[in-house]
Amino acid sequence: MSTQNIKAIDAIQEAQKIAFAPFVFQATVSLRNLGVFDLIFQHRKKGGITIEDIAKTLSISTYGIGVLLEIAESSNIVSQDDNKKFSLTTIGYFLAYNETVNVNINFTQDVCYKGLYHLEEAIKTQQPSGLKELGDWSTIYEGLSKLQPKIQQSWFEFDHHYSDDVFQEALETVFRTNPKVIYDVGANTGKFAISGSKYSDDVSIKMVDLPGQLKIALDNVEKAGFKNRVTHHEIDWLSENPTLPKGADTIWMSQFLDCFSEDEILTILKACANAVKDDGEILIMETFTDRQKFDNAKFILEATSLYFTVMANGNSKMYPAEVFLQLIDKAGLQLKEDIAVGEYHTILVCKKK
Ligand SMILES: C[S@@+](CC[C@H](N)C(=O)[O-])C[C@H]1O[C@@H](n2cnc3c(N)ncnc32)[C@H](O)[C@@H]1O
Repeated sequence: MSTQNIKAIDAIQEAQKIAFAPFVFQATVSLRNLGVFDLIFQHRKKGGITIEDIAKTLSISTYGIGVLLEIAESSNIVSQDDNKKFSLTTIGYFLAYNETVNVNINFTQDVCYKGLYHLEEAIKTQQPSGLKELGDWSTIYEGLSKLQPKIQQSWFEFDHHYSDDVFQEALETVFRTNPKVIYDVGANTGKFAISGSKYSDDVSIKMVDLPGQLKIALDNVEKAGFKNRVTHHEIDWLSENPTLPKGADTIWMSQFLDCFSEDEILTILKACANAVKDDGEILIMETFTDRQKFDNAKFILEATSLYFTVMANGNSKMYPAEVFLQLIDKAGLQLKEDIAVGEYHTILVCKKK
């Protein structure tokens, strides 16, 4: 439907949906968490289930189930037949059971919801004004290792969900030159260090991150049995003149540079250019906004940008690839390969000029 030709009656309906979007979102979270979606789904072959039976089975008032299902019906999440029995629509089914949708719901609810209230302030001040809802840190990365368990779980699930599926394909790209020393910049939980160490018996991986993150990553590496081949380097990229030790065959940065502003990315790329061997490679894996085939993927990235604005650091975003290509050039690097991985990711392979 072209938004230019939308009828006024439809446009006001869309505008009202936006006006009350948080109500629909919270109703959805409640319906999912209270087990209402599951119960309706279990009754799909029996022609659905009434409000009274849902209320009785879940020991919740008919009033409570009623108000939730009313707005869910108007939002096309459930439908009701002539016998007042409810079924999930396809939208309802995705809200209840699609993994990506649920990872996004948990991230929105647990990490971002309260903080989003402060978006306007974050835009004005260029500070992550919503972060105070989670803790007293200047960026969310300082606090990642100290987040409350449920919030931390939703953060990590969101982060990992968008890289897990392409990891195997990405490893094949990283190891196609048989590197012996890899730096994983933005090592996070050590997931790459562990899978890379499994992939090759003679690689040594240096994890680079903030101290709090490295502690979690080192624990995971030790548990996985790779302590002898994984080293670490503590860094705060926002400090004065951050540097990396020299000597990397490959520097790997996955979903990392989007955590920084363009100026900060340039600083990081220059430090990488200094640290990598003359014939080494710098690999950047990102989900770029201008490389998405599906509108809903682009929409997720745009929402993620607002998370950076209000919760993470106040000055970074999901970028189009063209911004990175200019920064790569400015940092004294040249693009050698531009590889599409999976449905959403791109790996930019860079070398020294
Ligand atoms: C989105 S996560 C990276 C995810 C991981 N590489 C992956 O592919 O799943 C970003 C990482 O950057 C690190 N980071 C953010 N700000 C940083 C800073 N100022 N200095 C060092 N590391 C930082 C965070 O601690 C976090 O581990």
